[in-house]
Amino acid sequence: MSELKINTFKHKINYLEPEPEILEQAAKIIKRGGLVAFPTETVYGLGADALNAQAVKKIYEAKGRPSNNPLILHINNLAQAEKLVYLDDRAELLMREFWPGPITFVLKAKDIIPLETRGGLDTAALRMPDNKIAAKLIEFADTPIAAPSANTSGRPSPTDFEAVNHDMDGRIDMILYSNNLNKNIGIESTVIDISEAQPLLLRAGGTAKELIDKVLMKNFNLKLAQPDEQSKRRSPGTRYRHYAPIIPVKICYFKDNNFINLQDNNEWGFIGLHEPDKNFNFKKILIFSSLEDYARELFKSFRDLEAENLQGIIAELPEDESGVGLGLRDRILRAAGAL
Ligand code: TXA
Ligand code: MG
Repeated sequence: MSELKINTFKHKINYLEPEPEILEQAAKIIKRGGLVAFPTETVYGLGADALNAQAVKKIYEAKGRPSNNPLILHINNLAQAEKLVYLDDRAELLMREFWPGPITFVLKAKDIIPLETRGGLDTAALRMPDNKIAAKLIEFADTPIAAPSANTSGRPSPTDFEAVNHDMDGRIDMILYSNNLNKNIGIESTVIDISEAQPLLLRAGGTAKELIDKVLMKNFNLKLAQPDEQSKRRSPGTRYRHYAPIIPVKICYFKDNNFINLQDNNEWGFIGLHEPDKNFNFKKILIFSSLEDYARELFKSFRDLEAENLQGIIAELPEDESGVGLGLRDRILRAAGAL
């Protein structure tokens, strides 16, 4: 990757009432083709003008991301979607049902979207974030904002200022950050491909699969399918090792009041929903009281434990696939290199 060179402005911004003068400054950077990291309800995004190919190229550079891995275009109203992709009744219904929120729809792209933004594909991914700072930034910039997670490619996605700053300081023009009142989801949006007759779940995430299936079943007598090998090629992001700390991650399970696969190691850390027995000697133990808390803290825990010079992390893989469970399992399995 290229050397540090850019002076990165850092601005705290109010979560409920984002200050217009700060938004104005950030929007100006986006309009002239620069990069701004900003909070969303899932993870921090690294934004650029989605319709400016040169600006989008800078995203790939700042992240060290392969340029065939397409970006999500963030919008703040349905009229914008219409300009970017081909909509049908099903797409509109799903968008009205789930937006704003942690769900991304892949649809056939219109020519207005540069190939750089969609990684050379004939489809594009759209999302309307449920976060006032993100929504206002899109409004002020007056353009869809292409934004992957604001981490170095392959690393855990950032869920706080420190993580964004660690990966992006000196590489981007501005970081907007806020106290999000602990309401963020912590893992990325659910990505579904609705560009063809059979809707596909490309990435489990913040919006529960069962909720999407319910709406699809009621209105179209359909359910999400898993992508086969061929359609996986349509979602290049699922091909790479992801979300991984530098230190190894191993998985254990909790079943019938017992841990399976739990190895004792006093140089390792433990994260999960259940406390290991006192005779297990972990250097650091982080227990979460719900799936939601686990998901919210997962990426930050990876980064924190790595910074504490542990040799590795044992992560409990939750059994529960409901709600955010499926996405949480996916991120843990990927971090462990098991997907
Ligand atoms: O929650 C999120 O989705 C966050 C926040 C910032 O919005 N963004 C995010 O972006 O996670 P990123 O770039 O880290 O992940 C986008 C995923 C990748 O797996 C990518 O391959 C997939 O969406 N994707 C984007 N465009 C696609 C397309 N046209 N077809 C298939 N998959 C696509
Ligand atoms: Mg990412």
